Amino acid sequence: MEVMLVTGVNGFLGSRIKEHFKDRYQIVAPAHAEMDITNLEEVMQYFERYEPQKVIHCAAVSDVGQCTREPEKSFTINVTGTENIAKACADHHTKLVFCSSDQIYFGSRENNAHKESERVTPQNVYGRQKLEAEQRMLQNCPDAVALRLSWMYDTVSNAKWEHGDFLRNLASILQRGERASFPCYDYRGITYVGDALRNLSQVFELPGGIYNYGSENQMNTYEMVVAFFKAIGIPEERVMVNEQAFADNPRNISMNIDKIRSHGIIFSNTLEALIACMTDSGLVLSAF
Ligand SMILES: NC(=O)c1ccc[n+]([C@@H]2O[C@H](COP(=O)([O-])OP(=O)(O)OC[C@H]3O[C@@H](n4cnc5c(N)ncnc54)[C@H](OP(=O)(O)O)[C@@H]3O)[C@@H](O)[C@H]2O)c1
Repeated sequence: MEVMLVTGVNGFLGSRIKEHFKDRYQIVAPAHAEMDITNLEEVMQYFERYEPQKVIHCAAVSDVGQCTREPEKSFTINVTGTENIAKACADHHTKLVFCSSDQIYFGSRENNAHKESERVTPQNVYGRQKLEAEQRMLQNCPDAVALRLSWMYDTVSNAKWEHGDFLRNLASILQRGERASFPCYDYRGITYVGDALRNLSQVFELPGGIYNYGSENQMNTYEMVVAFFKAIGIPEERVMVNEQAFADNPRNISMNIDKIRSHGIIFSNTLEALIACMTDSGLVLSAF
């Protein structure tokens, strides 16, 4: 069995990747305390010990606000840590898949869904760090793949400490009997993590480079939630439009996924996936 190294295994995505691949690979998944990605020597020793053929690099400071509050600390983890993983992968001829982010597109003037070839100037610290991490990764390891992920959700929580996601945040607002409020000046893809996991095997076959990876969504977030509620039978009055958020500087981080589609990797759009997810998971309204 091939060895797959998963970093950030106690996080939202890493924990699910470990579970998803556990029967197909020998998974080595060090917690932060077992391998600190900011320590190149520790990373190299780990690679020498386990000789992974594949790496999925999920460890990061993934909280946008925390990156703004602690830019130096998050730089060391998000940029230097990724560079360290890329150096080890290059030395060991290991295929690397790195989890980047759609936040790289925040601040771009492009009105349409963004393409990988676009010139970008990320507006927040997190987006700038992810962009620099991609660049350093490819300098050190040109065969590596960076996936620009959009915001992911699941129908179930894996651990008490897991950060919230779109669907579970929405469910808890509705369960508290409150009305949900979503911005109309905000365009983004939101992706079911199950779809991201399902496509991951094919990602290892991709040539090195940068790929948008997630559901497409042409609607603004408010419109999308209205359509979702309509489809699953929640009264439209339970959602309010937020006209303040991003009003001065509308946010468009929605992605065009033609590049990954040309390699046979398919995602349903945000609305279709949300509806399918609610139906398939049996969650259908019982929670609301
Ligand atoms: N979740 C999403 O919707 C989403 C969307 C776009 C992009 N992404 C990207 O996808 C990746 C995974 O996201 P996620 O939501 O799973 O993140 P997460 O839940 O915040 O998990 C990140 C993990 O990284 C670990 N970590 C932090 N610093 C480390 C270090 N120095 N050495 C080793 N491990 C370290 C953390 O462990 P400790 O807590 O023990 O420090 C944590 O388990 C991240 O790169 C994120 O930026 C995620």
